[in-house]
Amino acid sequence: MADPRKKKPLRENVGDSGFYENIATTSGGSPIANELATTRSARSRLDKAVFDKPSQTRVMTVTNQKGGVGKTTTTVNVAAALAKHGLRVLVIDSDPQGNASTALGVEHTPDVPSIYDVLLDEMTIAEVVQPSREADALSVVPATIDLSGAEIELVGLDQRESRLKIAVDEYLESIREAEGEQIDYIFIDCPPSLGLLTINAMVAASEAFIPIQCEYYALEGLSQLLNNIQLVQNSLNKELEVSTILLTMFDRRTNLSNEVAQDVREHFPDATLNTKIPRSVRISEAPSFQQTVITYDPQSPGAIAYEQAALEIAKQGVK
Ligand SMILES: Nc1ncnc2c1ncn2[C@@H]1O[C@H](COP(=O)(O)OP(=O)(O)OP(=O)(O)O)[C@@H](O)[C@H]1O
Ligand SMILES: [Mg+2]
Repeated sequence: MADPRKKKPLRENVGDSGFYENIATTSGGSPIANELATTRSARSRLDKAVFDKPSQTRVMTVTNQKGGVGKTTTTVNVAAALAKHGLRVLVIDSDPQGNASTALGVEHTPDVPSIYDVLLDEMTIAEVVQPSREADALSVVPATIDLSGAEIELVGLDQRESRLKIAVDEYLESIREAEGEQIDYIFIDCPPSLGLLTINAMVAASEAFIPIQCEYYALEGLSQLLNNIQLVQNSLNKELEVSTILLTMFDRRTNLSNEVAQDVREHFPDATLNTKIPRSVRISEAPSFQQTVITYDPQSPGAIAYEQAALEIAKQGVK
């Protein structure tokens, strides 16, 4: 009897849920042949696509206090996709779990200089930033476990909500002066909470980027997040806007995924990207190789979907 496990890679490559809803399928032929053809044509369109530079640095905080919705996965894959297409990108890992640092293959053991040192004013971003193996144009400010104490340590410090913004502005200025060139995108990966680390990220950014998992309870807690964004807009950063919402872990076979996607689009017609990220084994296994899916399996539907989302984001930047 055939070993059923052998079929898995084929299924993963051709039949990842949801992605094909984003693209018209070819008529005629078997469903698998159609899906393969669709993947190939999407891949070749993306390979030829031009990702324009934004006129100024876009600082996006990737946030949702709900845990496990795909914040880190979205941060690292969108960042890697933009860098792959020639844009200069910085990822700031602002989560003590350090998952973005892991996925981007940078050192983040407790002795490594990190975002913690920056927030505590002991180092600049320039002193802690590391190149990522993912792409030449991608660098990372790592997070170490030290950051878990920062929420409490920050409470007693001056400008406790603006420390990241001050550091980011100083870094951007130093890059402009030294290199005469801008960083195109900064993504800040937030922890699943609305504490001071997340507030610092919201104050440093001009855009909130919210991944929403296509699951039951997806919208629960969203009003609390939006309230917090509003509070930050009112008192600390009037530039902040919810510019981007990305539907993650979409499974086109379930009614639930489709209902959540429809609901989110009705509530946020402008911010919600057309691309939905499918639930995909390739996406979830990439971090264990300290890679993003963009380099781990560029032909997979998950990689293609993230690249397509990155292209939509790049297009927003030149509106
Ligand atoms: N599209 C996807 N398909 C399959 N698995 C996914 C997908 N996106 C994310 N995952 C997996 O879901 C889990 C949660 O994702 P991720 O860590 O990105 O969420 P998060 O919002 O950053 O979580 P946290 O709130 O803990 O920071 C991870 O194991 C990740 O590999
Ligand atoms: Mg995370």
